[in-house]
Amino acid sequence: MMDWTDRHCRTFHRQLSRRALLYTEMVTAPALVRGGATHLLDFGSQEHPVALQLGGSEPGELARAARMGADHGYDEINLNVGCPSDRVQSGRFGAVLMREPELVAECCAGMIAAQPLPVTVKCRIGVDDQRPDDVLPDFLSKIRAAGVRRVTIHARMAWLQGLSPKENRDVPPLDYDLVHRMKAEFPDLHVSINGGITDLDQVETHLARGLDGVMIGRAAYHDPAMVLLEADQRIFGETGPAPTREEVVHAMLPYIDRHIAAGGKLGQVTRHMLGLFTGQPGARRWRRVLSEGASRPGADRELVLEALGEVTRAAA
Ligand SMILES: Cc1cc2nc3c(=O)[nH]c(=O)nc-3n(C[C@H](O)[C@H](O)[C@H](O)COP(=O)(O)O)c2cc1C
Repeated sequence: MMDWTDRHCRTFHRQLSRRALLYTEMVTAPALVRGGATHLLDFGSQEHPVALQLGGSEPGELARAARMGADHGYDEINLNVGCPSDRVQSGRFGAVLMREPELVAECCAGMIAAQPLPVTVKCRIGVDDQRPDDVLPDFLSKIRAAGVRRVTIHARMAWLQGLSPKENRDVPPLDYDLVHRMKAEFPDLHVSINGGITDLDQVETHLARGLDGVMIGRAAYHDPAMVLLEADQRIFGETGPAPTREEVVHAMLPYIDRHIAAGGKLGQVTRHMLGLFTGQPGARRWRRVLSEGASRPGADRELVLEALGEVTRAAA
């Protein structure tokens, strides 16, 4: 998610779940290939498994970008066919590509041929005046024929005329049943569902109904413990205990120290951690201590420990 799932966020989320697949922000193929912005690919070995999400629509360029991602050590290359922003539409990236399944298939085939990692697609159920029941099966069969084996479907249309990107994440209605029907129609595709899912009970329901995976965006960011803390046990069948929120904070401290020693700012990491205690006693104090203090000069791990102390006191 742009501006959200940077490497600091992913490192934090990885302390909550060892198994959940994490995604980068969308990186555009032109930025990598024409702009030489290879720093956009930097990530830490502690983040695995992590998928690189690419945006683009030029097959040769996407193939080169995918290869760069593979060389950097990512676990998966994902193509964004879901983003509705204007900037992305004018570059012919994202959701507007739901209108061009042949081009998407050509892009995927090129990315698959260029490197060894699995190439996956994140898409919508349709855009604008399209009829999802017609266009989605056609889209899926074309990318499957190109060699794609895994797809994540954001279960709502994108209305590219007239709605902002934010509205396009809330206003078009969700159609979970359509995604389930697609799994029935394409049993050999690994199908994940996305959109409006907020807890592990819902995840378990979708999996029990036959889907292969569930992608969670906003809820994982705003209430990461609710979504991720027990994911390894409940979804992936791990038997060890889940970490506590406090252990997660302590696990972040060496990373924070290294980030600050390298010239980074505390707030760049802690801004992603503000939701850790959502719904718990002391959540407000945690949030306030970190958001008020993290941008002060010299702020370091001591501030995080002070914020944690507030939580401990509130819980006592
Ligand atoms: C701030 C923000 C940035 C996003 N950036 C991306 C992105 O880069 N690539 C992408 O595929 N989806 C992006 N999305 C969409 C989410 O991945 C997801 O499809 C959408 O929020 C619906 O799922 P949710 O209800 O679980 O959040 C973004 C969403 C938000 C809120």
